[in-house]
Amino acid sequence: MPSPRVQIRPSTNLFRNLAGSGALLLALSCSGGGGGSNPPAGGGINGQAINVGASGNFFSPKTLTVKAGTAVTFVWVSSGHSLVFGTSCSPATVGPSAGVSSGGVQNAGFLLAVPAAVINAPGTYPYYCSPHCGSDMTGTLTVIP
Ligand code: CU
Repeated sequence: MPSPRVQIRPSTNLFRNLAGSGALLLALSCSGGGGGSNPPAGGGINGQAINVGASGNFFSPKTLTVKAGTAVTFVWVSSGHSLVFGTSCSPATVGPSAGVSSGGVQNAGFLLAVPAAVINAPGTYPYYCSPHCGSDMTGTLTVIP
């Protein structure tokens, strides 16, 4: 039997906006610079989403804290970004996030689910986008017990 992990339902305020499909991705990637709101992508992603490249060279949210076992997916909402776990623009070499990356620059629509090894291990996991690390396209995922 599968172990009874906590069932994570899509966070309502995260996913209510456009529970549809690719509509949101398209909408976001075409929106030049709307300020305030950053509705994360829906499209059937379970758990939490971190938008990659929303409203410029940013991760949104920049910091996210989840309970262990919560699914987290990076959602590319614009093109030309990568995701690398690590700090100071260098890949992590130790710990569960070592070696986790998007495998180079990806484009809008790309999805990267954070591996279970990370999601199940409480800790702090900084990450960055390689092309834009120098301009502070960085973020932190924190997993709490
Ligand atoms: Cu970037």
